[in-house]
Amino acid sequence: MTTSLPVLLEHKRDGGRYAAEEIEAFVRAVVDGRASRAQAAAWLAFAYVRGLDDGETAALTRAMATSGRMLSWEGLDGPFVDKHSTGGVGDKVSLVLAPLWAELGRRVPMVSGRGLGHTGGTLDKLEAIPGYRCDLEPGRLRRILEDVGCFVNGQTDAVAPADRILYALRNETGTVPSIPLITASILSKKLAEGISDLVLDVKVGSGAFMPDLDAARALARSIVRVGRDAKLRVRALITDMDQPLGQAVGNALEVREAVDALKGEGPDDLVACTLALAGDDRAGALLASGAAFERFRRMVAAHGGDPESLDRLGRTTDGIAVVEVRADRSGFLQRCDALGVGRAAFALGAGRSRASDAVHPDVGVVLERKRGDPVAAGEVLARVHHAGRELDTALACVRAACVVGDAPPGPVPLVRDVVDLAI
Ligand code: URA
Repeated sequence: MTTSLPVLLEHKRDGGRYAAEEIEAFVRAVVDGRASRAQAAAWLAFAYVRGLDDGETAALTRAMATSGRMLSWEGLDGPFVDKHSTGGVGDKVSLVLAPLWAELGRRVPMVSGRGLGHTGGTLDKLEAIPGYRCDLEPGRLRRILEDVGCFVNGQTDAVAPADRILYALRNETGTVPSIPLITASILSKKLAEGISDLVLDVKVGSGAFMPDLDAARALARSIVRVGRDAKLRVRALITDMDQPLGQAVGNALEVREAVDALKGEGPDDLVACTLALAGDDRAGALLASGAAFERFRRMVAAHGGDPESLDRLGRTTDGIAVVEVRADRSGFLQRCDALGVGRAAFALGAGRSRASDAVHPDVGVVLERKRGDPVAAGEVLARVHHAGRELDTALACVRAACVVGDAPPGPVPLVRDVVDLAI
């Protein structure tokens, strides 16, 4: 690199624009360890505050995607498709959609992430299944894709390692909700996966990184634009995250609910979100038939997990106690605030504030009532599954999140908008 890292940092600190080579040099230095954690964190903070334009975002995406191996599925029949969410509370759609798509004849090479802030991560959920490995190497992933039709793995040193490093640092430094950084993070993984089609679930609302519709649209457009320039067919749905998706929030609890959905017994909003993203007229009947559950079991086994454990997961286990939160008056649930419930699960240990923190697989919150439901005084609104950590904080968060009022709230559509290639 001709420019030293400190000079590169000063350039963005002072509001400058990066050339593509400067961004590539920074990403290389992050991956090969020449950039210290402090320098990488400062770079993220300056990019967060000063912003990156479309050209810089595209360069960052390319540099991160090519920081490891670009997977290729030559010799296998496609289409190769994937879905990614910008992050929410109770969002277990990937666990349902990957096997569902595989059942519909698509191949789904899914590279997912861990929880960020108060939001859950697909990998943390899958690791609640005893034995499930998210760090498989490309040769084994290819065999799973060939035999099963879908895998859900993490970023390893082989695939988009720059994102693995920067993603964890963003989580520690308050630099997550940035449109260019989210765009590059998501698309770098997806470009490295060797897919042709991507459906994006951009979450909007209190539990999302984009709290309002304008910001969510801006993020969706950024990802669609940068993805299209990289020759990926991208469609984005903007979906509601003002309340959690489904009833379960917390790793094993969410796997349990995903299993219910795969058996045709999932909660309505989880099923509706999955089908909207699936974009296939046959998906509803297939999901209701329970056929995709067997595909999920095979994927779990191929990743080293124990499929027999799936029917036990999320049931109260040793060391876990359950506390009920009850309504103190009758009426309708006006709010079931996703951020509050996400914070409760986080306090209980379902999420992490440092990359090296372990998450607790069994803690979380199960919502017995959702927005708009009628409620009688004394009825259970939610059950808090805890392991003795920060119970008071979690209970306070859940109580504040569940607001009972006299009248039912107005309806909020699950799919708020669609952004496709025609922008
Ligand atoms: N999902 C990702 O992969 N990256 C982000 O930055 C946010 C959500």
